[in-house]
Amino acid sequence: MEITSLPSKNSKPLKKRTNSGLFITLEGGDGAGKSLLIARLEAELKKRSLPLLVTRNPGGTPLGERIRDLILHQKAFPVSSRCELLLFLADRAHHVETLLLPALREGRIVICDRFNDSTMAYQAAGRGLDLQQVKALSSFSAQGLSPDLTLYLDVDPAIGLKRIRKSKQNRLDLERLAFHQKVRKAYLKIALEEKERVRVLDAHLSPDEVFQQAMIWIDQLMHLFTPRCRQDEAHIKAVGC
Ligand code: TYD
Repeated sequence: MEITSLPSKNSKPLKKRTNSGLFITLEGGDGAGKSLLIARLEAELKKRSLPLLVTRNPGGTPLGERIRDLILHQKAFPVSSRCELLLFLADRAHHVETLLLPALREGRIVICDRFNDSTMAYQAAGRGLDLQQVKALSSFSAQGLSPDLTLYLDVDPAIGLKRIRKSKQNRLDLERLAFHQKVRKAYLKIALEEKERVRVLDAHLSPDEVFQQAMIWIDQLMHLFTPRCRQDEAHIKAVGC
């Protein structure tokens, strides 16, 4: 599997999927460095005065944050795989309907920490739930919404898991290494199957290098599809970006 750091003539051209705005998702195994990268991307895009929404799955809305706490941090009671799937998807449905679709309709650039690929990797591959069923339920929950660009931060789980502080471990971080290896394999398979959407970044590199690579792809996407309200200063002020 080629780790695509820079655009080359072999890279599949990106495809616009959303009607307005730009929808970018970040994916990766635990400890891949998504949070740091997202903070840096947010700072960079804000510096450019772009209309931006940064959000996360699970979470991003008051209800979503409650669901997040239930799934990830209530370790006192067990959650069955099907229940876990449906909780993630309840969050997804609410998040898409109340936050993502309105932001995209306003023409914003939306950066979302995890989306449907996480569900395919963790619940289908990791937990072993039926792949086609998980795909259909995820698409239903997201109203068919699909990212314009997904940056997948690829890291060896043996390295990624060591980066997570014990106090920050969630229910899924506590799974065995074999679980996380299945998750990584699933992500790489998705990247191979959906080359026009997913770009793989080598998360073993330094945070600076990963950030620079991510910006190359985001700039390419923005160059191809300038968001509507980028040209509209008044609108940018109105939405407070
Ligand atoms: P993450 O977003 O990486 O936050 P943190 O930085 O606090 O670890 O953690 C979310 C966890 O939820 C992560 O282990 C992946 C898991 N997850 C799923 O299993 N399925 C999903 O559909 C989503 C969105 C996340």
